[in-house]
Amino acid sequence: MNKKISKYYDQKQASEYEARRNNLVWHAESEVFDKIKNRIASKYDNSMEVLDVGAGTGRWIPHLHKVSSKYVGTDISENMLNQAKLKLEICPEEFKDKVKLIVSSVNKMSQNVSGKYDLIIMTRFLSHFSINEIRNILNIVKNFSKGDLIVSVRVADKSINLLSEILDLILRSPIGAIKRFRKSGRLTYARLDTDYNAVIAQSGFRVTKKNLVTQDKYNRYEYWELTLD
Ligand SMILES: C[S@@+](CC[C@H](N)C(=O)[O-])C[C@H]1O[C@@H](n2cnc3c(N)ncnc32)[C@H](O)[C@@H]1O
Repeated sequence: MNKKISKYYDQKQASEYEARRNNLVWHAESEVFDKIKNRIASKYDNSMEVLDVGAGTGRWIPHLHKVSSKYVGTDISENMLNQAKLKLEICPEEFKDKVKLIVSSVNKMSQNVSGKYDLIIMTRFLSHFSINEIRNILNIVKNFSKGDLIVSVRVADKSINLLSEILDLILRSPIGAIKRFRKSGRLTYARLDTDYNAVIAQSGFRVTKKNLVTQDKYNRYEYWELTLD
């Protein structure tokens, strides 16, 4: 797993994380998340057990307290989870007893987390990992799943010319290009959805719905709903 990413979130990034991301994409994500969450929660009578992997600052806590009987947020960064604790201040008192925030790397979850969950969330998380690591992560979270999973995925528009996307990225932001390559081993998101579909199929999960969050010239940002077969 990527140690640099873990260190990055453990520094002052934790206190600035949400302020830096409070933009149109962030709000579009919240809208899409709420729609999905409401639909899933109604299956569980608004009383579902939720596991948020790479929960970060606990951005989903205020969206979940009315529909969850249990919320477990895990993250490798204690500083990020300290920010998540602050979210509890705006939740009803009775919800606070239903929340556990656990410092754990995703690959140590079997040692640190117990139980099975109606809904598992992994937003803005899988993009930190290579496709082989994602295969491993899906196998890990499968052991905690009773049914539903939400993941965020960035996919390339099929009609684009790959070369022009790569050239555009390099010209626009050479540093961005280097960062993207170091993070994910890719300069383009082309075929990322094909890779995701393949590892998901191998994991025993099935994609049931792809929800568009936002798109730019080259890419679509989507929230995928998965279910355990
Ligand atoms: C971009 S943030 C996403 C936070 C939140 N899920 C969201 O949607 O805003 C990624 C989070 O993944 C956590 N993370 C990175 N590597 C991890 C690992 N190996 N195990 C668990 N958490 C990890 C980071 O500490 C960070 O809080």
